[in-house]
Amino acid sequence: MLQGTPILVLKEGTERDRGKGATSNNIAAARAIADTVRTTLGPRGMDKMLVDSMGDITITNDGVTILKEVDVEHPAAKMLVEVAKTQDQQCGDGTTTAVVLAGELLKRSEYLLEQNVHPTVITRGFLLAVQQAKHLLETEIGTSVKPEDDTVLIDCASTAMGSKGVFGSRDELAKIAVQAVRKISEVRGDKTVADVDQIKVEKRHGGTISDTALIQGIVIDKERGHPRMPGEVANAKIALLNSALEIKKTEIEGKINIKTPNQIQGFLDEEDKTFHKMVDAIKAVGANVVVCQKGIDDVVLHYLAKQSIYAVKQVKESDLQKLARATGGKIVTGIKELTSADLGSAEKVYEQKVGDDKMTYVTGCANPRSVSILIRGGTEHVTQEVERSLHDALKVVASVIEDGVVCPGGGASEIDLAVKLRKWAGTVGGREQLAVEAFAQSLEAVPWALTENAGYDSINTLIDLRSAHDGPNANKNAGINLADGKSADMWKLHIIEPLRVKTQALSSATEVASMILRIDDIIASKKSTPPPAGPGGHEH
Ligand SMILES: Nc1ncnc2c1ncn2[C@@H]1O[C@H](COP(=O)(O)OP(=O)(O)O)[C@@H](O)[C@H]1O
Ligand SMILES: [Mg+2]
Repeated sequence: MLQGTPILVLKEGTERDRGKGATSNNIAAARAIADTVRTTLGPRGMDKMLVDSMGDITITNDGVTILKEVDVEHPAAKMLVEVAKTQDQQCGDGTTTAVVLAGELLKRSEYLLEQNVHPTVITRGFLLAVQQAKHLLETEIGTSVKPEDDTVLIDCASTAMGSKGVFGSRDELAKIAVQAVRKISEVRGDKTVADVDQIKVEKRHGGTISDTALIQGIVIDKERGHPRMPGEVANAKIALLNSALEIKKTEIEGKINIKTPNQIQGFLDEEDKTFHKMVDAIKAVGANVVVCQKGIDDVVLHYLAKQSIYAVKQVKESDLQKLARATGGKIVTGIKELTSADLGSAEKVYEQKVGDDKMTYVTGCANPRSVSILIRGGTEHVTQEVERSLHDALKVVASVIEDGVVCPGGGASEIDLAVKLRKWAGTVGGREQLAVEAFAQSLEAVPWALTENAGYDSINTLIDLRSAHDGPNANKNAGINLADGKSADMWKLHIIEPLRVKTQALSSATEVASMILRIDDIIASKKSTPPPAGPGGHEH
């Protein structure tokens, strides 16, 4: 009876793609993503202009920014976008490299799959290769540096920013990045920790990139709440509040039922009394500065001004937290709970005009490790790209301070790994050897793209590089000099990168490639289409 009746396991409308079809579909999608960012790799890489659905424009060369902005549909392509994000979180730099490598690993895998090498063999080979590659980077290719060596740190920061549109001011920005990270790094046990999230980065367009400055303290993108407040407060005692200094409208509506003019007056007096109490409470604990995450009623601002108290409202939560850390203050919810012990302290709080706007500076903080960077630049697009570049540079400097190992850039590390891994592949044996060779081959995609993007002949350069890394006079630091397309010593050209950027890019690229290779069945449920908007819908 049952014979011939198909057993339906999956819901109707579910799409299924199995076996080789599934794999090649995934690989094609992932490679499309890699191809998109490949042309931006390196200092001569091109920028992308991204226009979002609201018409806002972003111009960038930053791999992760590009991938975050584009709306990717395919699941395998999404996985590649995740790689860029992970790389960004871990290292700040190397996002394009990681994605290009993943795409290349998948491309080489396709050849192997065509030769009937099983996906699990390929992934095993890749795993062996990436372990060996990391080992080689740590022991042979990387160079230990002293974290207190400023020149190395500046070179790393400068290399990280090399591909971004900040070329002219790179050296100044690199110095600022190094000073800022130095300021926040601290020794914990036998480790040095540099948490760059502690650095406050603000941007304001106007002026030029070279006006970008390091500020010993915290800069808040807000002006004082009332023109009669003092423009500057010395020996600041700062109250940090995360609730509003207002009277909630609903509280009032619920209660009053006004019948006579007297009652109105009585009500207004009552309100006034509440506002007075708020200001009195602030005054009583000895605060002369108020930083509030929420709103402050105009009347309260007026009374605060009368008491010569400097106040800013609508401050971002993250800024409030940074202020708490910098000034040693405690964020308080209700004004009633405020005590003098909660106040933070700073030598000076003042308002300063930056471009067309005014900002609040909190300097000479109780915690000497607090520092801000105020980015300037001709237009908003410029300041945004400077911010992204600085983010890369800060993270890069932090990882060198924490790890103390750097590798040559300009494709030198990748070529050296490729040469060494090819030799090592023989010791692996079996079919995995083919995968190790494919891995080595994939690494050459980095120098290849760097050269190609600079308009040189990639084949010649690659031959040049391979021979520079082989033989008795091999130089592990030989990479591409983009000034002439020939091989040169990257240490001499000051093109160096943290070990962590390299190892993380290899790990995440390999992981995602392996994950995509292991998928042999795509089961996609039917897309739920949004219900059509009826006559009473919200369409305009
Ligand atoms: N001046 C330079 N000459 C040659 N290569 C460089 C130079 N500056 C940076 N690079 C290389 O460019 C690559 C990084 O390019 P980038 O566009 O920043 O991509 P990613 O997002 O991967 O960091 C690295 O391989 C780095 O070594
Ligand atoms: Mg980079």
